[in-house]
Amino acid sequence: MASRKNIVVLFGGRSGEHEVSLSSAAYIIDTLKQCEAFHILPVAITREGRWYAYGGPTQAMREDRWYAEGPVTPATLVPDTSKPYLFTKRDGRSITYPVDCVFPVLHGPFGEDGTVQGMLELSGIPYVGCGVAASAIAMDKVFANTVFDQCAIPHTPWRALDRYTFIHRDEKMLDDLVQGMHYPLFVKPARGGSSLGIRRVASPDELVDAIEFAFQYDRKLVIEEGVRGRELEIAAFGGYGKPILSPVGEIVPDREFYDYDSKYKEDSASELIAPAKLRDDQLMRLRMIASEAWQALDCYGMARIDFFLTEDDRVLLNEINTIPGFVSISMYPRLFREAGYGDAELLRELIKFAFLRDS
Ligand SMILES: Nc1ncnc2c1ncn2[C@@H]1O[C@H](COP(=O)(O)OP(=O)(O)O)[C@@H](O)[C@H]1O
Ligand SMILES: [Mg+2]
Repeated sequence: MASRKNIVVLFGGRSGEHEVSLSSAAYIIDTLKQCEAFHILPVAITREGRWYAYGGPTQAMREDRWYAEGPVTPATLVPDTSKPYLFTKRDGRSITYPVDCVFPVLHGPFGEDGTVQGMLELSGIPYVGCGVAASAIAMDKVFANTVFDQCAIPHTPWRALDRYTFIHRDEKMLDDLVQGMHYPLFVKPARGGSSLGIRRVASPDELVDAIEFAFQYDRKLVIEEGVRGRELEIAAFGGYGKPILSPVGEIVPDREFYDYDSKYKEDSASELIAPAKLRDDQLMRLRMIASEAWQALDCYGMARIDFFLTEDDRVLLNEINTIPGFVSISMYPRLFREAGYGDAELLRELIKFAFLRDS
């Protein structure tokens, strides 16, 4: 029998989506543990950025008690290709585990944005998901929207704004910037996630507040024209070129838009519908744009591609998430279940692509 592969599942992290990552990673670890072929090494990153090998139950991760209850041991990965090991210390003794593959389950900055991917490229360790540039561009709504425009991928009208320009603005700057845009607008931090820092702006007198709020999350932001219509999502995995696409899912937020609480709060009445009811021609357009967007950003491994279907029947791309939420009820695994992939099988596919990169 081939030897088991050591898979480091990396989770937690320094972003505002730390808790979301704990839940995703707990689910992924539980699922991977069912696979004989893998030996799982859970490695947590604290909110401050400290790394620990974690040996406790996944339930304590979901409840954010993993650090307090442990066991945890300081852990290090070194960006030296001759050392594809996880180094930990226990009772003063050094322990090394060979690492075959890393599965970054980190949402948001310092994990989904190419930083961890860069470290893993340097270390020469195969890893799950998109590469450095695709991760960084997908994470940054200014760059991502620019690439989508460049590749003629339909998107709602948008503007970029950075803090320097905003602070040094004259009276006309904001008016000029949003000139011709129709309210409501959405103001979003460029490099956020889970809707953190996003506000819907119904009228011009709310704009400055929303901008200042978004600048608490990032020094750059996008202002977008609000789209009226349906929110749709496609899950994708595969190599460079055309990915394997899932059926289309639909989000029906329980409030004005799909904000943090409507995404994660237990009392949220938001609905995730899989598969969404759509006509064949709509499905075809969604699938075509999903595939184009994957290729435009040079995606690899996995991504969830999010759209709007406008009231006048246009498909607009919203964003690409390179490390989508992954708990049992998340769209990403749910949509592939619709396509006949069990969760363990899907994760095995994702890990398989980690070993195939660049081949
Ligand atoms: N241009 C827009 N028009 C209408 N709703 C929007 C728009 N942009 C964002 N939203 C709403 O805000 C949510 C979060 O925005 P999104 O761009 O997906 O940011 P995040 O990366 O934080 O998920 C979307 O799921 C949608 O409900
Ligand atoms: Mg989103």
